[in-house]
Amino acid sequence: MSTQRAQFGTRLGVIATTVGSAVGLGNIWRFPYEAGAHGGGAFLLIYIGFIFLIGVPVICAEFIMGRGTRRNIFGAFWTLHSCRCWSWVGYMGILASILILSFYSVVAGWTLEYLWQSITGTLDANSGTNNLHAAFDTFAAGPRSVMWTLIFLAVNAVILLRGVRGGIEKASNVLMPVLFVILIIFCINSLTLPQASEGLQFLFKPDFSKVDSSTLIGALGQAFFSLSLGLGTLMTYSSYFSDSTPLIKSAVTTASLDTIVAILAGIIIFPAVFTYGCEPAAGPKLVFEVLPAIFHQMPGGAIWAILFFFLLFLASLTSTISMSEICIAFFCEQTKMSRRRATLINTAIAMGFGTLCALSFGSLSDFTIAGLSVFNLFDYLSSNILLPLGGMLISIFVGWIVDRNLIRNQLGGSGRIPRPLLTGITFCLRYLAPTAILLIFLSGLDII
Ligand code: PHE
Repeated sequence: MSTQRAQFGTRLGVIATTVGSAVGLGNIWRFPYEAGAHGGGAFLLIYIGFIFLIGVPVICAEFIMGRGTRRNIFGAFWTLHSCRCWSWVGYMGILASILILSFYSVVAGWTLEYLWQSITGTLDANSGTNNLHAAFDTFAAGPRSVMWTLIFLAVNAVILLRGVRGGIEKASNVLMPVLFVILIIFCINSLTLPQASEGLQFLFKPDFSKVDSSTLIGALGQAFFSLSLGLGTLMTYSSYFSDSTPLIKSAVTTASLDTIVAILAGIIIFPAVFTYGCEPAAGPKLVFEVLPAIFHQMPGGAIWAILFFFLLFLASLTSTISMSEICIAFFCEQTKMSRRRATLINTAIAMGFGTLCALSFGSLSDFTIAGLSVFNLFDYLSSNILLPLGGMLISIFVGWIVDRNLIRNQLGGSGRIPRPLLTGITFCLRYLAPTAILLIFLSGLDII
């Protein structure tokens, strides 16, 4: 990969793949339950602040390193600095990618089960309000959840083995805009629900009395998770950007589209949460309890459900492909392993861990570490610790160690970058992002 590097042909291709990695279950499944658990409006506001003040500069930092060196995360650090100690950021990225792939595949497996149920008509039969909670719990605790996790990971492996650029990317360039349109239709539908205004108030009216350190850590973790940031995904992808791709514009576009999708998901879910008497703080199962009820009351609900779960499955695949690529690129480039072997190892590890995550809703539900089930532990460790920590180290590296000329040339592209913009981004990378992340960590540990 490092000898003959591919490049994205068009600007649309750049945006579609980067957004393809960012938009996924993080927006539609994780954002609503995090917002629900942390008080709604205040969480949303803080989240948006983190996305643009910390997320966008750190995306720029990953882009600068990726396109500036045209290497994977390890190669990028090695090219820019002689000290091998920075390669630990690369190891952290790999660990995070494996943890995320493991629990993410469980949720992607749930979408496959719901797609299956929509096709066979079981979803609708299960969606009477009384059954709503029980149906999900029974399914998630049973063996089918493990089965779908393994099926999803197998599909992911087949696509990785066949090469990413051909089928899946072309398909997702067309299908992701379709997902966007469908989300808007669902939003309009949710706005007509009886308790819509309660739901919207919950999502948009900030109640700062609910803010504590867990809100801050939750919002920061969600921002990094949703942007696929801090583990080298965007670094790897940007190593395929052409020299004329405008980095800042691409970073802002990715962050904005990703945020819009999350807000749309919130507008769909919360009116329904209040209308159907669900609990905003229900955790990972929230969306899967609420969606069947929404489809049940929509005209032609079965068709909408099939379309939605199919598109969500595809959106998940474009994300899991991007996270698997980190690990595969590492094995191929650093240990000279074949791509096939690297893919199989990555898949086998994720299948093992993924099974444990799936079982943590059933037979392993009593097995907890620090009060968290395996699923929640993997999620917390990766999203709330490894990704922000990776982002902090990447921003320190680019802000303090990387040559200023590289930053200027990469951000400016063919033109010149306006001075205030350069100063602003450098300030965020040198001071704002590292300090904010550190303070949030310390507050989470109850140190401040
Ligand atoms: N950003 C993806 C989503 O929101 C998840 C992801 C995390 C993808 C980390 C790659 C790396 O679904």
